[in-house]
Amino acid sequence: MKKFFIQTFGCQMNVYDGQRIAAMLTARGLSRTQNVADADIIILNTCAVRAKATDKVFSALGRIRRQKKPDALFGIVGCVARESGADAFRRIPELNFVLGPQSYHKLPQVLENPDAKLLNIDLGGLEKFDELPRMEHSPAVAYVPIQEGCDHCCTYCIVPYTRGREVSRRFANVIDDCRHAADTGAVEICFLGQNVNGYKYTDNDGRKYRLSDLIRAAAALPRIQRIRFTSSYPTEMTDDLIEMFRTEPKLLPFLNMPIQSGSPNVLTRMNRPYSLDLYIDIINKLHDARPDIQISSDFIVGFPGESDEDFNQTLEIARRIKYINSYSFKYSPRPHTAAALMPDQVPETIKAARLAILDAELNEIQRSFNEACIGKTMPCLYEGPDKTGRHLVYRTPYMQQCIVPANDAAPQMADIKVTAANKASLRGEFAD
Ligand code: SAH
Ligand code: F3S
Repeated sequence: MKKFFIQTFGCQMNVYDGQRIAAMLTARGLSRTQNVADADIIILNTCAVRAKATDKVFSALGRIRRQKKPDALFGIVGCVARESGADAFRRIPELNFVLGPQSYHKLPQVLENPDAKLLNIDLGGLEKFDELPRMEHSPAVAYVPIQEGCDHCCTYCIVPYTRGREVSRRFANVIDDCRHAADTGAVEICFLGQNVNGYKYTDNDGRKYRLSDLIRAAAALPRIQRIRFTSSYPTEMTDDLIEMFRTEPKLLPFLNMPIQSGSPNVLTRMNRPYSLDLYIDIINKLHDARPDIQISSDFIVGFPGESDEDFNQTLEIARRIKYINSYSFKYSPRPHTAAALMPDQVPETIKAARLAILDAELNEIQRSFNEACIGKTMPCLYEGPDKTGRHLVYRTPYMQQCIVPANDAAPQMADIKVTAANKASLRGEFAD
């Protein structure tokens, strides 16, 4: 039996793409191996969002080309494939295929034509979602893509280039995926998209569907107990969607809605044309709909032209909103983006210093939120045993890890009382 090796880098959409590729190869009779030296086909499923992510892929390729069997097929799929195109073949001549994020369903052509060099980085839409076999069994958390690509064109971001313009999937196909996931083991649905709350679909009768319609339909599936979605663009938080936080108890009280920077000047140069007042107004409406809601954000520090004053405004907004579970990055100039050509690039040492300050602040906010959870009982989803086997790991509605002493039973959903906290996780016990 032939074997495949796949390694996934990057975002949740890539994790999902990796699962679909694995399901496709399994359906063709290949089995999965964790050992590169054993594999007949090697696939790196790649991320290009920051230069470091792309560098990681090329250093992994350099390593793998020495370890692999001489006749093993070898290639990259995903955003680095799209970023590099034919250049990838020049850098690593042994590569057999370079397939962009919307052409990985062409992988069988590689198996059929092992001697060809296959390059396909077209942005063709959404065939891949509906052409490929589904996973036979869904994990407890089912990631369901609803749209791909992004029309926002933030000036730092390579994603609109690698994943293309926004396209939304058919409403009926998304709900079919949710139903299949629920029937085969899912209890949580996480809707995915680069601009997930920009979802818009019009069917043949002219009926329009938004993300709120998807949430309502998924919540009607009895086995589904938790629903969330990521990542949201602030100005696409429409009232119908905010209202779902009031009316749909299965929707978790947690929302990822990146602000990126707290400086109006930097936001303008990032081409994120919302005012801080508007952003805060949206958060106020969300709080009104769901008083226990918490917000998470991504931040970029050291964007071209960012002054100390701009950076302080980012710290201020982080303190004001009290973001939890957030990510912060040093700005990384990317090909195919406008910001890479802007004057006043910020020196690396300043970026690193600002990142350390912001991270310390975000950690502190996280720690005090975690501590505020002590004594509360929350419905949590079982994730698996910890490394020692002596504890069970659960996920709270805010995506915190909560560690519970091992028990005879590990119910998939359980009410857990939080007994202790630090900045990274919670400890708890089953509530009576
Ligand atoms: N909405 C998208 C975001 C994609 S990129 C999605 O969820 O699919 C994820 C995060 O990476 C962004 O929110 C941004 O904070 C960060 N990022 C994007 N481009 C970057 C760059 N050139 N340098 C540093 N960070 C970047
Ligand atoms: Fe990137 Fe901005 Fe879209 S961060 S994915 S261009 S909203």
